[in-house]
Amino acid sequence: MSETTTAPKVLFEITEAHLNTGLRGFPIGTCRTSAVSPELGVTYVGWTLEQLQNHPAEDVIYLLLHKELPTPEQAKAFKADLARRSAIDPAVFDALRALPPQGHPMEWLIVGLVLLGMTGKTGDYHEDALNCIARISTLVAAIYRLREGWGDPIGPRHDLPFHENFAHMLGIEGAHPVLPDLLRLFYILHMDHGGGNLSTFVGKAVASGKADVYASLSAAMAALYGPRHGRANQECLEFVKSIGASDPDKVERRVREILSSGGLVYGFGHAVLRQEDPRAKIQYAFGEKHFPDHELVKTAVALRQVVPPILKENPKIQNPYPNVDAVSGSLLTAAGLTDPEYYTLLFGWSRVAGIAAQIVDERHYPGKKDGLPIYRPKYIAEGQPARRP
Ligand code: MLT
Repeated sequence: MSETTTAPKVLFEITEAHLNTGLRGFPIGTCRTSAVSPELGVTYVGWTLEQLQNHPAEDVIYLLLHKELPTPEQAKAFKADLARRSAIDPAVFDALRALPPQGHPMEWLIVGLVLLGMTGKTGDYHEDALNCIARISTLVAAIYRLREGWGDPIGPRHDLPFHENFAHMLGIEGAHPVLPDLLRLFYILHMDHGGGNLSTFVGKAVASGKADVYASLSAAMAALYGPRHGRANQECLEFVKSIGASDPDKVERRVREILSSGGLVYGFGHAVLRQEDPRAKIQYAFGEKHFPDHELVKTAVALRQVVPPILKENPKIQNPYPNVDAVSGSLLTAAGLTDPEYYTLLFGWSRVAGIAAQIVDERHYPGKKDGLPIYRPKYIAEGQPARRP
């Protein structure tokens, strides 16, 4: 090191107490698509979700990939480009038809992404990311239809915006007219959440070994499938249903009963956030506007009022506030998507965009011809006595 070079800034002191804590809080890289702060929650390239919530989904995809919102001309060209890429090989549908219906929709997605790769990968990270983001709606809608036995997949319509095309391909009978707009909002709110959430971390780690985008995203979706991560939204709706009332006094009594019998309260708290998650706040506003009389939405709104003061009685709880899952299932149910088994699939439908954008950023990192190095953290040996003679 020359005399003029300053020592790198110390970001984090690692002690033995940090081992086996799930890397919580360890800075391990940089992220260009989004940031999560304890106070603000997630921002996408500096924009808050309050600012982005009314944009077309395609604009926000463009933002994550290009780090700026598109001009009207760029937006038009990008929409057309995504629509052009959205058809998938019929061999994928044939393979999905052979999957056991008892498999969870996320297991179908994990398989489906690998099938998309087998039938359509180019090997170029940017190109594959775009194709995958464009094709994920077609794949997810086909999983819904084939697994539920609703009939053959419905082909994409190039004249429709991203979220309306998805609603069209789902073909839900009797859906609420606001379903397409709820899907647009759900998509935007779930797209990205910094670099350290489990699925994003896993997807980037797998891609660091130079696996293709599809295999990396499939691994990321396996991470999202877990009940501590994306599957929490499915369990959260079961919890809201189990309350069985929307009157705040009754809800409070029920929550206290659940907690005193050792049960869990779902949809509250977060690893990083120390305020109400803005993704929850925006969804509550949508629910109060469109479904003010829906019993489950009213229950979720009552839980928002009742649970934080109860959780604050426990000084160990750092964040007693609602998170992204608190009301999402109640809204989806009110809009016509009533089966909670599919909620993590919808989370994956959206999160693929953020993870794919972050994979592209790491594989095409400025100044690194071959992208960032393969992930290779260190584990300290434990309980392994020397056995040399
Ligand atoms: C997410 O959106 O991925 C969840 O909030 C989980 C997380 O950030 O760790």
